[in-house]
Amino acid sequence: MLPGAPHVAYRDGLLFVEDCELNALAAEFGTPLYVYSQTAMLASLASYQRALAGRDHLICYAMKANSSLAVLQTFARAGCGFDIVSVGELERAIAAGGDTAKVMFSGVGKTRHEMRRALEVGVLCFNVESEAELDVLSQVAVQSGLTAKVSLRVNPDVDPRTHPYISTGLKGNKFGIAHERAVAAYLRAAALPGLEVTGIDFHIGSQITEAAPYLEALDRLLDLVEGVEAHGIALHHIDLGGGLGITYADEQPPSAEALLSALLERIDERGHSHRRILFEPGRSLVGNAGVLVSEVLYLKPSSVKNFCVVDAGMNDLIRPALYQAWMRIAACTLRDEPPVIWDVVGPVCESGDWLGRERPLAVKAGDCVAVLSAGAYGMSLASNYNSRGRAAEVMVSGADARLIRDREQPADLMHGEHLLD
Ligand code: LLP
Repeated sequence: MLPGAPHVAYRDGLLFVEDCELNALAAEFGTPLYVYSQTAMLASLASYQRALAGRDHLICYAMKANSSLAVLQTFARAGCGFDIVSVGELERAIAAGGDTAKVMFSGVGKTRHEMRRALEVGVLCFNVESEAELDVLSQVAVQSGLTAKVSLRVNPDVDPRTHPYISTGLKGNKFGIAHERAVAAYLRAAALPGLEVTGIDFHIGSQITEAAPYLEALDRLLDLVEGVEAHGIALHHIDLGGGLGITYADEQPPSAEALLSALLERIDERGHSHRRILFEPGRSLVGNAGVLVSEVLYLKPSSVKNFCVVDAGMNDLIRPALYQAWMRIAACTLRDEPPVIWDVVGPVCESGDWLGRERPLAVKAGDCVAVLSAGAYGMSLASNYNSRGRAAEVMVSGADARLIRDREQPADLMHGEHLLD
């Protein structure tokens, strides 16, 4: 078993996801290849469900982490709703069999067209991020003859102590309505036609590895709930966002069960047990469930640095290039040879195209390596840069491996383009 990835393990020197051997999957489906453990996804969800059992609650999977249809279908069948941020994500949720009454629509830049479509299909609520958005949503709802259920995303000004690109609940971030403006914004929402206030939410950041910032944000949120209700505006639900971190290297985040238990205890202590509780987890449901398998194309040792050139690049997995994220890289076949220190790089024409730096690996050209904990923000952030088709994806359950997305071909990449004449 490898750290943080309980469903990825070596057996007799070969790397497996559940009961599927990765070299065999690479031979069958080609590389680069994303491989997901469905059991791992459901086990992560179960940790949330255990803590919330017996409460009125809804877990809305934040599909930006991985919006492949079979992944969405897995969570929809398990009873999850979805947290979406675009009409594209909404259509995916519907295509995967998701219940639109369990969809919440987040994001700072919803367009009128997106609002209209979400109203038509009857989403659970809009997580509104500004007072200007309230006005537009009210207009769209009135024009459509429908009522928009609204939760205000409040920016609690709490430091989640994570990477600056993925911290969202600080005053300087573009997200949410400032804490001190929140009561006024609720009064405005309650007065506007076409809107029905139903809840309140925060999301303070991503890859958070401690409970303390959540508890701090929760306390501030509950203060607000009390302040808002003092004006006669009822808040039926509290949405505590997503953001729980996973183990990439040696991080030790609390389990979902432990984090939620601490939050629910605080909610009960402060007399808010009657409210419906919502969560929007992304990474913690899928991150450790996925690996990216890639073939070693060339070994390029030099006097300064050794490069191990693999066939997956920053277009397939951008987290190392974008956030300097450290993601474990494991050989799919253990060789009985001393490891050499390599920079594992992709084929894209950018010096920033690396997957891991200074990694001890015993590999030869033609071997496969797996980047671990790649189930979240891997495929969903993949691009076609350098006109590279996106990878294929496989969902594993026990010994069963299903292709859930074909590898993109050059014709797919040119689809919808037009020559001048
Ligand atoms: N809810 C909202 C409103 C969000 O903005 C996000 C993530 C989530 C829920 C889910 O957060 P999670 O549970 O996955 O941490 N690409 C970055 C992460 C960006 C997160 C954006 N928002 C990465 O690869 O680290």
